Amino acid sequence: MHRSLVLRATPFFIASALTLAAASAGATREAVPVLRIDTGTVTAHVSPIHAGLMTEEINHSYDGGLYAELLRDRAVGGEVLARADALGAWELIGKLPGRDNLALDVSKSLSNAIPASLRIDAVSASPNNRVGVANEGFWGIPVRPNTQYHLSFYGNAAAGFSGPLRVSLESKDGSRVFARAEFSLAPGGEWKKYEAVLMTDSAASVSADTRLTIATEHPGTFWLTLVSLFPPTWKDRPNGNRIDLMEKLSALHPKFLRFPGGAYLNGETVDTRYDWKKTLGPLTDRGGHPSPWRYWSSDGMGLLEFLEWCEDLRMEPVLGVHAGSDEIPVGPQLQPFVQDTLDEIEYVSGDANTKWGAKRAQDGHPAPFKLTYVEIGNEESGPTYDARFAQFHDAIKARHPKLQLIATSVIAGSIDSMKPIPIKSRMPDVLDDHFYLKATEMFKVVGHYDHYDRKGPKIFVGEWATIEGSPTPTFQSALGDAAWMIGMERNADIVIMQAYAPLFVNVNKGARQWPTNLIGYDALGSFGSPSYYAQVIFNSHRGDEVLACPPSVAANFFTSATRDSKTGTIYIKAVNAAAMSRTAEIEIAGPEKISQEGKVISLAGHPGDINSIQEPTKIAPVEQPLAVSGNIFEQTFPQSSITVLELHAK
Ligand code: AHR
Repeated sequence: MHRSLVLRATPFFIASALTLAAASAGATREAVPVLRIDTGTVTAHVSPIHAGLMTEEINHSYDGGLYAELLRDRAVGGEVLARADALGAWELIGKLPGRDNLALDVSKSLSNAIPASLRIDAVSASPNNRVGVANEGFWGIPVRPNTQYHLSFYGNAAAGFSGPLRVSLESKDGSRVFARAEFSLAPGGEWKKYEAVLMTDSAASVSADTRLTIATEHPGTFWLTLVSLFPPTWKDRPNGNRIDLMEKLSALHPKFLRFPGGAYLNGETVDTRYDWKKTLGPLTDRGGHPSPWRYWSSDGMGLLEFLEWCEDLRMEPVLGVHAGSDEIPVGPQLQPFVQDTLDEIEYVSGDANTKWGAKRAQDGHPAPFKLTYVEIGNEESGPTYDARFAQFHDAIKARHPKLQLIATSVIAGSIDSMKPIPIKSRMPDVLDDHFYLKATEMFKVVGHYDHYDRKGPKIFVGEWATIEGSPTPTFQSALGDAAWMIGMERNADIVIMQAYAPLFVNVNKGARQWPTNLIGYDALGSFGSPSYYAQVIFNSHRGDEVLACPPSVAANFFTSATRDSKTGTIYIKAVNAAAMSRTAEIEIAGPEKISQEGKVISLAGHPGDINSIQEPTKIAPVEQPLAVSGNIFEQTFPQSSITVLELHAK
């Protein structure tokens, strides 16, 4: 038993016991365990970037998720050549089936990156029969009243045809039009960009039972490509992010962003990796690529967009770089991949007078980004990783000695598979551990880092989650996650960074590839899971010093204590995963006098509870004042609960 874990009869207990003794000789109440927090002993300093985000294109995290583009398959091109359903999300509309035609045209391409376009032969078009195309977006296009949508597309007309083309944001059956714009096509057979703001009026209903149509009432042939529709975005960034999801991320107070993956970094093959150079510049140069999660990625979320996302939420980038593969021999054949990484580091952090820094400036961001952490590969379990890591390590350190290099490790899907990866040739600055476990396993491994080698690399738990609940975690999962976070916080001297994964899931049928994900959404709404709220309350009450405190006072009960060294505020975190409430006597042992006015922030519920689009806050934090009687007080933690106590020194 920990030195400071003692059982003590409190004054309340003594009084009660005496009363009981008077009433019934020999009757006793169970003694209350003491949680003694020694404020004179700081066991670890919490890294200023302890909690962050891990992200990748999975579950429609970007396309159909955070990246605010509303149209699916906006640039028919690369993907349609590789797919059986060549037209992707585009459908022909017109009242006379068989008369008109919609086809993919590889002879009319907009750019090398977008090697095909939609050809529409509107043969039967007339004032009573508009002919054109429709796109229903990612499970509907969110329509809201009084909202501006930025529309753009590239159009090309056959000789003698000028349209006009009418673009409508409308109900799926076309009976209600929420906003529209009209364009006359320029003659000349050249591509031209057309743009407009579609504005819905106050009568527009909130709906995702919608589509965008581009059609004509005059017979003729025209071509379309790179058709794009953006709603208002976070901070009004062009090509930006969805506002509700950015708000949810902001509430997590994330300190870093690990990107671009995950499996998405590596792709299914080297050729389908996240090839960052193909994600830069105008959208006309971005055709997208297949994601390893089996759908097409538009690459709208390019390297600069990731960095701007970091900037918007004041997060440090943790840059995942492609590390080649076991099929590429170490040495000269791996060197192009190493050079690609050096170029990428320069794009992110080089001055605007370097080659790749100048490219970043040309792309719209002259100022370099702060870069401290670079991760070599993702879950590289192959035999050559050690040698590949060494080649990357030496080349990067030679040019950027201060960069902290992270070596990836393999995934742990059970307690038995939790083993450190043997990187022998070079000592990484940081090791990235990944854990996906059941709640009962999480409870068992809370102390995983307690006896870790403090002389080796620091630890980045770059992916972790309790896997129970789908598409988002149950409250039981949140209990596992919160217990695990307590274990990481107690070991914050070595666990310098940690991030849950996966971050996002589009909850529509067919959108998801991973069972349990932190934040769910559809076209119109979003919700945080119980695990999300556990992170919100823990990350908002972090402190920078870990105080000596017993890890537990009972079975399936987990605790940690921290302090904000500037304000003296003490945070006690407790997870009661048991099916009964627990009462503990809290003792703040130190010179400070604890103020009577504290706070208790808690999450409680049934282990099977989930949040959803319909019940987004079934499990959500409740904050209440806490009347503290002094440095020693009793606190009851309900069954299945996650609690933060905030205490102030007088
Ligand atoms: O988070 C989902 C996947 O889990 C990641 O892409 C991969 O790194 C891990 O196996």
